[in-house]
Amino acid sequence: MLCIPLHGTFHYSQSVSLLTTLAELRLFVQNQHRQGKRIGLVPTMGALHEGHLSLVKMSNEQCDVTLVSIFVNPTQFGPSEDFVRYPRTLENDLSLLKALHSPAVFAPNVSEIYPADFNASVHVGDLSLPFEGMIRPTHFEGVATVVLKLFLLSQADVAFFGQKDYQQFCVIKKMVTDLNVPINIVMGPTIREADGLAMSSRNRHLSTAGRGQAVALSQSLATAEKMILAENVRSAERIRQVIREKILSTGGMAIDYIAVADPLTLRELSVIETEAVILLAVRCGSVRLIDNILIKT
Ligand code: PAJ
Repeated sequence: MLCIPLHGTFHYSQSVSLLTTLAELRLFVQNQHRQGKRIGLVPTMGALHEGHLSLVKMSNEQCDVTLVSIFVNPTQFGPSEDFVRYPRTLENDLSLLKALHSPAVFAPNVSEIYPADFNASVHVGDLSLPFEGMIRPTHFEGVATVVLKLFLLSQADVAFFGQKDYQQFCVIKKMVTDLNVPINIVMGPTIREADGLAMSSRNRHLSTAGRGQAVALSQSLATAEKMILAENVRSAERIRQVIREKILSTGGMAIDYIAVADPLTLRELSVIETEAVILLAVRCGSVRLIDNILIKT
């Protein structure tokens, strides 16, 4: 049975408990710790798809209990971004999690996380500045702040993040290291549609034509990987040029950035020696899509 709380009370069922207040979450965490359980946290903004669910499955395998947070975090959206139209599908999310036997969901209101007098923020330096940080200057401060709050509230042992948002993963890992947050951060692989498009909650906003064009992201990354590994092309500029041509040849997409960078420092490379991450962000109509690939030669 799925239990949806009324007026802030919460109920345990055999499958999903929905926690909406900090007090309910604290009680849940205390209960798990009293039983000596290892908590795995999967932070999300909801509109769950197989990408999110793969992280929940990883957590179920590696931890005793999984807590999924569902919170569309206003502070990580810029003023002209899609906070209002970001999909909110809580009921469907809960039934997907119920099928995975995920025992707890934390889905607070905005005022629970950000009371009216909230006034702190977490800034992670260099890793948050290029690429996404350049296009969305306040984004990673919003992400780091909410994620640190979720880490502290959940007291999780492990938290799971997707490679899909590679720079976000790097920023969170650096925050945890620099601030000595006692949690392990695990990265799960990017889950893709059959044609290669990385799953994203935003894909549902693509037009039919846009959905056709969007496959160019993963295809161009696959071409880049082949050039590097099979043809030994090592010039980052050559790789960027091939990706750019493939994206622009769709006729419907604008490029925010194409970057070939060191996977640890995110500094741009001119020559690919042993490892690289290729990061890509494009706009397809009003929908922003990102993807990346890690290369080890
Ligand atoms: P959201 O976009 O909902 O993503 C939640 C988690 O799912 C992130 O770790 C993201 O990298 C992962 N994810 C998304 N699509 C994926 C895919 N196709 N394959 C594998 N993993 C995928 O990222 C956020 O929310 C927010 O910034 C958050 C961290 C929750 C902070 O608000």
